[in-house]
Amino acid sequence: MTRSVIAGTGGYLPVRALTNDELAEAYGLDTSDAWISERTGIRRRHMAAPGETTADMAAAAAREALAQAGADAAEVDAIILATATPDSAFPSTATRVQEKLGIRQGFSFDISAACTGFIYALGVADSMIRTGHCRSALVIGAEAFTRILDWTDRGTCVLFGDGAGAVLLRAEGGEGDRGILSTHLHSDGRHGDILQVEGGLVRMAGREVFRHAVAKLASAVDEALAANGLAQADVQWLVPHQANRRIIDAMGRKLGLPAERVVVTVDRHANTSAASIPLALAEATRDGRVARGDLVLMEAIGGGLTWGAALARF
Ligand code: ACO
Repeated sequence: MTRSVIAGTGGYLPVRALTNDELAEAYGLDTSDAWISERTGIRRRHMAAPGETTADMAAAAAREALAQAGADAAEVDAIILATATPDSAFPSTATRVQEKLGIRQGFSFDISAACTGFIYALGVADSMIRTGHCRSALVIGAEAFTRILDWTDRGTCVLFGDGAGAVLLRAEGGEGDRGILSTHLHSDGRHGDILQVEGGLVRMAGREVFRHAVAKLASAVDEALAANGLAQADVQWLVPHQANRRIIDAMGRKLGLPAERVVVTVDRHANTSAASIPLALAEATRDGRVARGDLVLMEAIGGGLTWGAALARF
């Protein structure tokens, strides 16, 4: 049976980083480091440079994933890129990345599922590999999210940052147990108005999103474990979407995981939407925390509403 194995991970963060105080100062916000960090865990975020595109950041993350996998561009036959901040409606950001990486074969397209985008992209890529549409796929989450923030709305503009993360999936046959075990995707369009882009800018009913987040993520996690006959105790790493420290901690507690088994970047990256999970994965593989053979649970919720979970053995 063909499985998709995560052969490499990569991440990219723009050079410019602003602390909460620096952000407040730069945008004249009536807020404080204490308010932001106590409610969200966010202490700083990165911001793309003028002219730095979503595709630029995505290509940088993809290059690291290829290098870590010991792969070159000629091996890649699909690019599936999740973003809520594409550089244009078309060409897709994925085809721009294809061009930047010098890839001349295969196919590429974008996925729109807001903060759940990476889980969706992983699910689609895994299905396409299993069914023989491609042998390898770059799965990317990339966002220039600070470009769609309303800098007069302190309830949203302090929460987000820019960046990109990528994994290279490779088809592998045989009896091994490495690879994506399963992905679980959900959406409910009735709740579209609690987190949306309206007139080009993000609007959010924070408390409503919070309420949905904890319940829906818990049910997606239970579904992923049950589908694989696994127990909470089998999970070695939780790599959650990085929206808010309180949501992350609630999921860690639900799984009974000690804090050091939950990969957290929200303090330094803020919420990078579709990029947050692959950025966290890249960090945790780079520093040796997530190692070959480890069972990793990923989960996310975002605008749509969309939500989902994925289980992978590295
Ligand atoms: N600084 C200071 N005060 C602020 C700020 C700020 N940055 N933002 C809002 N406030 C004020 C509000 O004006 C309000 O003041 P008032 O009582 O005088 O009217 C007060 O703080 C409370 O506002 P709430 O919006 O009710 O604040 P809440 O305690 O719910 O915290 C937060 C807001 C942090 C967004 C919370 O609702 C939350 O974590 N929600 C989860 C949603 C989330 O994480 N979204 C991220 C994107 S979605 C995703 O990725 C899943």
